[in-house]
Amino acid sequence: MSEHPTEATTPTREAGPDRRKEHVVPDLPPGVAPARVRTFVRRGRLSSLTKDRVERLAPARSVPDGPFEPAAAFGRTAPVVLEIGCGHGHAAIAYAAAFPERDILAMDVHTPGLARMLADADEAGVPNLRVEIGDAVLFLEERVTDATFDAVHLFFPDPWRKQKHTKRRFVSPANLDLLARVLKPRGHVLIATDQDFYAEHALAEVAAHPRFEAHRIDRPQWRPRDGFEAKGIAAGRTINELRLDLLP
Ligand SMILES: C[S@@+](CC[C@H](N)C(=O)[O-])C[C@H]1O[C@@H](n2cnc3c(N)ncnc32)[C@H](O)[C@@H]1O
Repeated sequence: MSEHPTEATTPTREAGPDRRKEHVVPDLPPGVAPARVRTFVRRGRLSSLTKDRVERLAPARSVPDGPFEPAAAFGRTAPVVLEIGCGHGHAAIAYAAAFPERDILAMDVHTPGLARMLADADEAGVPNLRVEIGDAVLFLEERVTDATFDAVHLFFPDPWRKQKHTKRRFVSPANLDLLARVLKPRGHVLIATDQDFYAEHALAEVAAHPRFEAHRIDRPQWRPRDGFEAKGIAAGRTINELRLDLLP
């Protein structure tokens, strides 16, 4: 069983005949592009607590519809970071608190996690944090212009362990192209993973990509040691910390 719950929660949904069209078919013949490769899976209904938190707290932290404009979203011009797959948002909240002179947009498709983050962010204050619910790939493709972000954070992405799910891993040639486009010159991507095979996968993808250079780095001091990091360490796994530097 996967250590990461988004993979563990879905077998029946993915196997159902009506849902199959919504998900990627990983074994397409060469040259046939899937309509959409999802790096996540859909989950169940929202609880009333989640709905209440979203209704009450999301408006103040949402970004305006349409093209993403940091100055309009944050009400100032400052370095801006995107966290993809922020989950319950502890890292994003900690980053916003540690760097009040920077802005951070935290994204996830998982509404309950984001709702919890909205509640925690409300307690923490952090006026430099905004939240977007949705698929980061679509968001970047459709709403983000070139050279928008100073950095992108990807902490403990769903590993998609099985070979047939490789295309669902967030670090892919297409997503590296996308990140290279939306990062500012000299921008970077931070990745953390407790799955050695995912780190090797990411390093191999980056080595084959012309716009990034990867380095193993020390753990960022500001990131809380909880969630997948704590679980990985408790299980005896190493936390791989990678930094991908955008090349000129
Ligand atoms: C394993 S969880 C890690 C969450 C969080 N970073 C942490 O360390 O606790 C991966 C998260 O990425 C989200 N995710 C996967 N693909 C995504 C995408 N394309 N856009 C936004 N979120 C995505 C999932 O919904 C899930 O919450």
